[in-house]
Amino acid sequence: MSEISASILSVKKENAIKTFYNLETAKVNYFHIDVMDGKFVESNTIRDMKDYSLTISHITNLGLDVHLMVKNVDEFIDEYLNLTPEYITFHIEAVDGGKDNIEKIIKKIKDGGSKVGIAISPNTSIDTIKPFLKYIHMILIMTVEPGKGGQKLISKTLTKVKELKKYMRENNLDFNIEVDGGINDITADEAVKAGADILVVGSYLIKSKDYASVVRKLKKMEEIEDE
Ligand code: DX5
Ligand code: ZN
Repeated sequence: MSEISASILSVKKENAIKTFYNLETAKVNYFHIDVMDGKFVESNTIRDMKDYSLTISHITNLGLDVHLMVKNVDEFIDEYLNLTPEYITFHIEAVDGGKDNIEKIIKKIKDGGSKVGIAISPNTSIDTIKPFLKYIHMILIMTVEPGKGGQKLISKTLTKVKELKKYMRENNLDFNIEVDGGINDITADEAVKAGADILVVGSYLIKSKDYASVVRKLKKMEEIEDE
């Protein structure tokens, strides 16, 4: 059974509170917070995501799944740790200074009480994250280019999901694989079959009329075991 992380990027301010409440009632597992700084990606959602995160923390009991699409990872970790999210995920492409710096960031998130995720964009190989897999809780495989909602899933990214799951099993590792971007009922099935554990769902869920039935359907997707 997969978990659902609702991306609230496309939620309109006018009905935000009602939407958050309805998503919780529909039994999503997390709220996915897309923090964009206007530097790592073009859009800037710093203000909106902070406001939404505070509102969500006040009115729901669900964990925040914070996806940092930012250059200055350190600064945003400090800011979000105050809300004790379930996960804080940063992009490996955003961190300069090599292995030591990445290990420092991982430690900072853990010491702050959140689980650690590392994200990779569609053109980044899974080899870049292999040295850190034993220290982290989640890998976010971007299934679209980071930057905006409502895009089409790039199918070659699911090959990375498959390879990573295989690598995890062969090396007795344990972490969740999250996919993010272009997830709908068809691509969700493909992603889960490839080995995804957590599905980030934005526009497909938010645009739907019945959150609960979409969530129920997506949670039921099953992995194919090929061993
Ligand atoms: C893209 C974001 C995604 C996105 C998902 O940069 O990380 O979380 O908002 O939205 P959909 O599901 O509409 O692709
Ligand atoms: Zn995201």
